[in-house]
Amino acid sequence: MSRAQSIYVCSDCGAQSAQWHGQCPGCGAWNTLVEERAPAAASAGRGAARRGPAVGGDRGGGGDRGGRGRGRVASTPLAEVGAAPVARLATGIGELDRVLGGGLVPGSLVLLGGAPGIGKSTLTNMVLGHLAGAGRRALYVSAEESAEQVRLRAERLGPGALSVPVLAETDLDVVLDVLAAESPQACVIDSVQTLRSAELGGAPGSVGQVREVAGRIMELAKARGIATILVGHVTKDGALAGPRVLEHLVDCVLQFEGERERPYRELRALKNRFGSTNEAGLFEMRQGGLVEVLDASARFVAEATRAPGSVMLAAMEGSRPLLVEVQALVAPSELEQPRRVASGLDRNRLALVLAILGRHGRIGTGGADVFVNVVGGVRVDEPGVDLAVALAVASASRGVPLRGAPRACFGELGLTGELRWVGHPERRLEEAARHGLREVLAPTGSGAQACEAGTLRDALAHVLPAAPQRRARVAA
Ligand code: TYD
Ligand code: MG
Repeated sequence: MSRAQSIYVCSDCGAQSAQWHGQCPGCGAWNTLVEERAPAAASAGRGAARRGPAVGGDRGGGGDRGGRGRGRVASTPLAEVGAAPVARLATGIGELDRVLGGGLVPGSLVLLGGAPGIGKSTLTNMVLGHLAGAGRRALYVSAEESAEQVRLRAERLGPGALSVPVLAETDLDVVLDVLAAESPQACVIDSVQTLRSAELGGAPGSVGQVREVAGRIMELAKARGIATILVGHVTKDGALAGPRVLEHLVDCVLQFEGERERPYRELRALKNRFGSTNEAGLFEMRQGGLVEVLDASARFVAEATRAPGSVMLAAMEGSRPLLVEVQALVAPSELEQPRRVASGLDRNRLALVLAILGRHGRIGTGGADVFVNVVGGVRVDEPGVDLAVALAVASASRGVPLRGAPRACFGELGLTGELRWVGHPERRLEEAARHGLREVLAPTGSGAQACEAGTLRDALAHVLPAAPQRRARVAA
C-alpha cells in the first residue's frame, strides 16, 4: 500500500514545503514545520470513503465536491435554526457531569489532559463502566496498555468497569474501522498520542500525527454521534506539543490536576462549548478508583494546622465556594536569588503579592526563600487568593499565628496596596460560616458578616499582633 503524499506546513506562517526543514523557508522560524497529509487532489479510495458518512443528509446531485447545489445555499436567521435539545449521556460521576455542563454530548470530542499517573485512564474507565452499566454501547480503545493491563485496572474498579468492551490497538485505521463497525455511543481513546496513522511518516505523538488522529476520529464521531473522550498527556508545565495543538479542534478541554503523591485530584474545564469553564470537580484516588469529594471544605477546615504561616482562604471554584488552607514558609536563603516556590497558584501572582507585601505591608522577604502551598493539591486560579497569600507569608515571616483564628479571608491586592472586592463575597462568607469560621477578613463592601479592610495594611493590623505599621482600623 503506498503512503499518501505528505507536505510540511509551518505552524507559524503557514508556508508549505515538500520536505522537512529545521528552519521555515517562509518566515525563518525554527522547528515549526509539521507534517500533514497533502490536499487530496485525486482522492479516490479511502479519502472518498472517509468523507462519505460525514456528508450525512445533503448528498445531492453530482456526488463530488462541486455537487452541493451552491445556488440553493442561503443563511438562516438564528431564531429559525432548529436547535433540538441534546440528550446528554450522564457519566454517572456527578463531579464530571457538572464540569462537562451536564454530561457528555453525543458527537462531541472531549480532550482530557493530565500528567502521567494522575488517573486519566482510571476516570475514563469508570465513565465507560457506568455508561455500559446503564445499557449504553461503549468502547475503550487502549493504545497504551494491553487489554490485560486494562482488565487489571478494571478489576480494581468493580464489575461495571469489567463490562466495557476494550480494543488494544495503535493503528488509527483499525481503530476507525472498529468504531465504524461497532458505532458505540461513547468511546475513549487512551491516548491520542499513541495512536498512529500509517499514512503519515511522523512518530506517534508528533504534532502532525496527533492532529491527523484527532481530525479523523472527529469526522467519524460527528457523523455517527459518538461521544468521544481523547486522553492526552501533558507534562507539568503543559508543554507537550500533542494535546495543545488539539485545543481548537475539540469541543471541550478538561484538565486533570493534582500531585501524584497526594490523593486529591482536581478536574477543570479549560474550554467547553456546552457549558461553563468555571466549574471544577474534586476527586480522591482510593483503592477502588476515584471517589468524588463532595464536601471538600469540611475536610480542609478539619485538616488545617493554624500554625504560623497558615491561613484559610474562602475561594471560589467556579460557581462553588471552597475553603482551603494556604500555607507559607519563609526561611533565610543561601542563594543569591532566593527561591520563590508556589504550588497550587500562579508563580507570578506570588511574586506580585510579595512585592506588594514588601512595599505596602513593610514585610520584606528579599533575602529569604518563600514557599507557598495551597494544601491538598488544589489549584486556586482566582484573584481572591492574594490576601491569603499575603497573610500566610506575613505570619510565616513573623513566626506568629494569625490572631483571632479560626478565621478565613479573601480579597485581591492592588498594586497600590489596596484590598479589592472580588466576586461572590456572600457565598464565600456563607461557606465560612457553615464550617464554623465566623470571622472572615474581606475587602470593604463584602457584606455584613465580614470583618472588612480597605488596604493590605488594615488587613495586617487586624490579624498580626505586632505589626509595626499599625493604622486606624476600618469599621468592622
Ligand atoms: P492511571 O489511571 O493509570 O493514570 P493515567 O492514565 O493518568 O496515567 O492511574 C494512576 C494511578 O492511580 C496509578 O498509579 C495507580 C492508582 N490507582 C489507585 O490508587 N487506585 C485505583 O483503584 C486505580 C485503578 C489506580
Ligand atoms: Mg493511562
